[in-house]
Amino acid sequence: MGKAYPVVSEEYLKAVEKARRKLRGLIAEKNIAPIVVRLAWHGAGTYDVKTKTGGPFGTIRNQHELAHGANAGLDIAIKLLEPVKEQVPILSYADFYQLAGVVAIEVTGGPTIPFHPGRKDIAESPEEGRLPDATKGADHLRDVFGHMGLSDKEIVALSGAHSLGRAHKERSGFEGAWTPNPLIFDNSYFTELLTGEKEGLLQLPSDKALVEDPKFRTFVELYAQDEEAFFQDYSESHLKLSELGFGEDA
Ligand code: HEM
Repeated sequence: MGKAYPVVSEEYLKAVEKARRKLRGLIAEKNIAPIVVRLAWHGAGTYDVKTKTGGPFGTIRNQHELAHGANAGLDIAIKLLEPVKEQVPILSYADFYQLAGVVAIEVTGGPTIPFHPGRKDIAESPEEGRLPDATKGADHLRDVFGHMGLSDKEIVALSGAHSLGRAHKERSGFEGAWTPNPLIFDNSYFTELLTGEKEGLLQLPSDKALVEDPKFRTFVELYAQDEEAFFQDYSESHLKLSELGFGEDA
């Protein structure tokens, strides 16, 4: 396995490093890591392996894609990131949003995630309905992530990103955080999931599916117990998510 990536210019690589520094500053200053991770994920998670459409190619900034129900509130992230994007005009939005997601995981204490530049922006947004519905269970998760080409292990590892952030009534209809410290990326999503519902903390039907389904649960138990294993699998899964449809199989 492995991928071959496009070659980018020296100037482009410099812009990537500049964006990385500016993003670290902005994300730390404004405490926006959670919504930035959600932006990167919703930008990438529309990929469909069969038709090779959707994916992390910058389309999430299109007004009609932002208007998809699942993306409620993400216009805020786009606006917050724009001043940094203006400083690196050479970068594609595709690379910029995925880099922002990687930096957001890093500045909140999460694992390092490799980043390969060279995604090209495409014009056409995917149709609505490719992202998961939080009111549904295990079959739905397997179906939706299966379209992205992602496995049970990757579903559980990636769900650990709910270590960060919270739900907002006016965006998703849900309210509250999954963990006591939503600005720290650690394995607390899994430890909280296993201790069951607690006053003040959120567990959506899609979260509960991970403990109720025996195959998912094996990974929840592993990650609750072994943060290093979680970080390793998270890093690999996030890398894969951020590169759906990008890079040639080599
Ligand atoms: C497994 C299926 C998933 C479902 C059903 C789901 C659902 C949700 C919902 C309903 C929210 C609340 C949005 C709001 O009201 O602001 C949310 C937030 C969030 N999601 Fe997910 N999600 C899933 C997977 C993921 C994945 C794979 C990632 C990242 C790799 C992720 C990262 C986040 C983050 C960081 C937030 C917090 C955003 C904020 O604080 O503004 N989620 N998710």
